[in-house]
Amino acid sequence: MHQAAWSIPVWMSLVACVSAVNDGATKEAPVPVSRPAPPAAAPAATPATASPRADVPDDINDGWIAREGEAAARTLERDGREVYAARAAIMAAIGVESGQAVADVGSGSGLFTRLFSDAVGPTGTVYAVDIGEKMLAYIAEKAKETGRTNIKTVLGTAYSTRLPPASVDLVFISDTYHHFEYPQDMMRSIRRALRPDGRVVLIDFIRIEGTSPSWILGHVRAGQEVFEREIQNEGFSKTQTVELDQLVENYFVVFKKSAPAAVDGPS
Ligand SMILES: C[S@@+](CC[C@H](N)C(=O)[O-])C[C@H]1O[C@@H](n2cnc3c(N)ncnc32)[C@H](O)[C@@H]1O
Repeated sequence: MHQAAWSIPVWMSLVACVSAVNDGATKEAPVPVSRPAPPAAAPAATPATASPRADVPDDINDGWIAREGEAAARTLERDGREVYAARAAIMAAIGVESGQAVADVGSGSGLFTRLFSDAVGPTGTVYAVDIGEKMLAYIAEKAKETGRTNIKTVLGTAYSTRLPPASVDLVFISDTYHHFEYPQDMMRSIRRALRPDGRVVLIDFIRIEGTSPSWILGHVRAGQEVFEREIQNEGFSKTQTVELDQLVENYFVVFKKSAPAAVDGPS
């Protein structure tokens, strides 16, 4: 377990019911969840330097934070979901190497975390970073069950991956950038965590006003052009657009660090 991440108690408020989350074809009915014990410490305060909150739906992450790992897996690891069906092609296109360190930021139920774990092998490391503690517990439990010793779970915040500086060769962000409430802070944290030649892979929903389904228009705050510009503004340049036959609803782009960013504070 990644020490830095777990040494700081974090309280994520849970809502009384899981809101409908639609990151694929099906919507889930709200299910009740019990209230957790009171937090051991005060909630993680908004950093004084926090960037403006993005215009995401207020409850965009509530359902994920409250969600049990198995329920998340039922939503995220099913054939009707495009990135799940395309997972082998996505992994082949990324081409991670044995021994590399990868961060799966917004790891959800660990679909890609496990694939990266197998790809980097016993000498590599995969950080599963999420703000949902229950999903991270599920990832850790599955890693233990399946003997994957190279997976480290990291409880991030809405502002930070809490990854150590210069610790990873690849940051993978699938179906998650549009969930970032503070995308500037997240990209600054990602930039600090990346090694000098590191890459960022972004996979997200194609969103075109007047064309995309209404659930995408309501759930995903902006399209590819806007997200790319935001990421470039935080010190990245786009190196590749990957076209895969299996991806029709999603785009797949790759970035590397560009000139030093204006902000290089602690992660
Ligand atoms: C739709 S799921 C995608 C999961 C996974 N990447 C996949 O493609 O299967 C979005 C995930 O992003 C997580 N998330 C949202 N904001 C985050 C943040 N600031 N840092 C890390 N994870 C975040 C949510 O908790 C959720 O697990």
